[in-house]
Amino acid sequence: MRKFINYLFLFFFVGGAFSNVIAPSNAADIPSPKDKKPAEIGVIIGSTRPNRIGKQIAEWILNEVCNTPGLKFRLVDLVDFSLPLLNEPFPAAQSDNYTHEHTKKWSKEVQSYQGYVFIIPEYNSGYPASIKNAIDYLFKEWNGKAALIISYGFQGGKKSAEQFNQILTAVKLHPTQTMPALTLKKEMFDEKGQIKSPGQDFAQYMHGIKKAVQELRGLILG
Ligand SMILES: Cc1cc2nc3c(=O)[nH]c(=O)nc-3n(C[C@H](O)[C@H](O)[C@H](O)COP(=O)(O)O)c2cc1C
Repeated sequence: MRKFINYLFLFFFVGGAFSNVIAPSNAADIPSPKDKKPAEIGVIIGSTRPNRIGKQIAEWILNEVCNTPGLKFRLVDLVDFSLPLLNEPFPAAQSDNYTHEHTKKWSKEVQSYQGYVFIIPEYNSGYPASIKNAIDYLFKEWNGKAALIISYGFQGGKKSAEQFNQILTAVKLHPTQTMPALTLKKEMFDEKGQIKSPGQDFAQYMHGIKKAVQELRGLILG
């Protein structure tokens, strides 16, 4: 009997010691998925002209998708960066030792995101020069990250999106398969040239936009 008690003691003592090795004593040390910081996504407004509707569309989209788990969206307005036509002496792919303050500021902003939503209109069957210029300023800052293109125009902005997709792959961004394209209609506009009711007018596109956002999430979080 005494021998049996000794064995029992040994079993619990040694077992207890090993259980400490296998399972950490303090469960709070293990990072849970809930503790993970959400991925930062920049929603870049591609048009810069006064009276653009790009900002309205971007704000509406941001409001609709801001509760996507694991992603945190922030509006990025190119107007705030006042980028002149590219005036760095060396291509960004060659050197990121930038000369100008506006480039350093833009670089810092772009670096702070893990993914991007590009809101771009169609101008004369292509993307606006403003967004191409903003892309060309940088290189490494874009590399390997995820991107979603949402275009708009009276023809839906598809040509703009398709062309811009090629630009993104040149700077090694990974675009989503789904590229929502919003068709504008004359009657959507008020007398000031703004969309009267984006929520109502673009409601039919929300399913596609949310699907594309999930693809973006998948590209970033796996
Ligand atoms: C210079 C210019 C060219 C345009 N060309 C096209 C076009 O080729 N296809 C199209 O669908 N819409 C075209 N549009 C209409 C724009 O898509 C529409 O005006 C839209 O509101 C522009 O976006 P923004 O307001 O954010 O600048 C053009 C607009 C501008 C200003």
